[in-house]
Amino acid sequence: GMAVEILSAGEIARMRRAGACAAETLRAVGARLRVGVSTADIDRWVRADTAARGARPSQLGYRGFPAAVCTSRNAVVCHGIPSEAERLADGDIVNVDVTSELDGFHGDTSMTFVIGEASAEARHVVDVARRCRDAGVAEVRDGARLGDIGAAIAALAAQEGCGVVEAFGGHGIGRRMHMEPHVAHTGVRGAGLRLKAGMAITIEPMVTLGRPDIRQLDDGWTIVTADGRWTAQFEHTVLVTKGGCEVLTA
Ligand code: MF3
Ligand code: CO
Ligand code: CO
Repeated sequence: GMAVEILSAGEIARMRRAGACAAETLRAVGARLRVGVSTADIDRWVRADTAARGARPSQLGYRGFPAAVCTSRNAVVCHGIPSEAERLADGDIVNVDVTSELDGFHGDTSMTFVIGEASAEARHVVDVARRCRDAGVAEVRDGARLGDIGAAIAALAAQEGCGVVEAFGGHGIGRRMHMEPHVAHTGVRGAGLRLKAGMAITIEPMVTLGRPDIRQLDDGWTIVTADGRWTAQFEHTVLVTKGGCEVLTA
């Protein structure tokens, strides 16, 4: 179908709570990251913190995903599966993607964390990914087009010598984690769906140091860069408003 949901005032209030819940879990878990932590530790912390907030990890069991959180380190673009064997080392970068369902609504947010002393190029791709996410968010308002978001993200990444992964995008969000529309992170200004106040979407660009081409590992989930170079991602859930947007996962 083509319909993108417009949330009621009551639904917006519940989306604010779900977004804050996911953001608080991400902040709490991020504060515990250091050399030696395993990505399975991150999964345990996400499960416990989410439960303590009366919420459920949306990703657990989603299309068979085996964990509560995606942990995507270095050359992993997204959908990394937490593992006891994978420990954070000095200089690593790791994206932690938290999605929480609270009172029937979902909030979805991620950040890429730098562990200890990272290389200049690792810090660069993390910085560019954050700025690309924020450049996309800055385009959102009633009447803007989805293409405005993608065009802003792609222009900034290109200016900084980085790639933007095209195989995955953001999405509508509400009573389900993934809803319409698909939110591409490249595009043409003035093209695509017109945003309306009351829509909720995610913006979550995956930015690469090298080519944006990807491949999937044999586990059926983990997405890595085809060239093995490092990649970073940041994600917010936002509500479209008349004059701009409200970041629900701030
Ligand atoms: N949170 C991810 C997103 O931003 C969803 C990952 S789906 C999973 O859309 F199954 F891999 F968890
Ligand atoms: Co998302
Ligand atoms: Co996410």
